[in-house]
Amino acid sequence: MEEKIESFAPNETEAFGEKLGQAAQPGQIYCLSGDLGVGKTVFTKGFAKGLGVTEVVTSPTFTILNEYPGRLPLYHFDVYRISDEEEMDDTGYEDYFYGQGVCLVEWAELIENLIPQNAIWITVEKDYTKSEDYRRITLRQGAEEA
Ligand SMILES: Nc1ncnc2c1ncn2[C@@H]1O[C@H](COP(=O)(O)OP(=O)(O)OP(=O)(O)O)[C@@H](O)[C@H]1O
Ligand SMILES: [Mg+2]
Repeated sequence: MEEKIESFAPNETEAFGEKLGQAAQPGQIYCLSGDLGVGKTVFTKGFAKGLGVTEVVTSPTFTILNEYPGRLPLYHFDVYRISDEEEMDDTGYEDYFYGQGVCLVEWAELIENLIPQNAIWITVEKDYTKSEDYRRITLRQGAEEA
């Protein structure tokens, strides 16, 4: 399954995140990939809101994992600074990836081999030929089709 959407402003990316957050189910893992500053955290803020998180979601770049209570617990990872699998083990990620909350992982492509098969991948890309604030968001679930 693949879905592509176009965002022309941060609030549109946030609204898309919110819609997905409202529909999120226990045990799901959302993997966000895309360049620095592309809008992964903007998406996450909306997602958290949709999930009923009332706390302000910040970028966890220096903490790797932030946990937020909501309709379901949200485990927000940013693995940009992870340098090896051991460091990832130290976060206790397996309990979360295989738990009953919802995981959202920024920079998931850096730990691709640790991500379960059934994860939902969301790729955010810029296209300056369209506009500075344009983002193409691709959502993909399950194994890629041949
Ligand atoms: N259509 C858009 N969708 C999302 N963000 C946008 C859009 N247009 C402009 N922006 C801006 O791009 C920036 C995205 O920042 P954000 O922190 O979400 O990026 P990120 O992908 O999480 O980066 P990092 O890899 O550093 O964590 C914000 O300043 C936001 O206002
Ligand atoms: Mg971010």
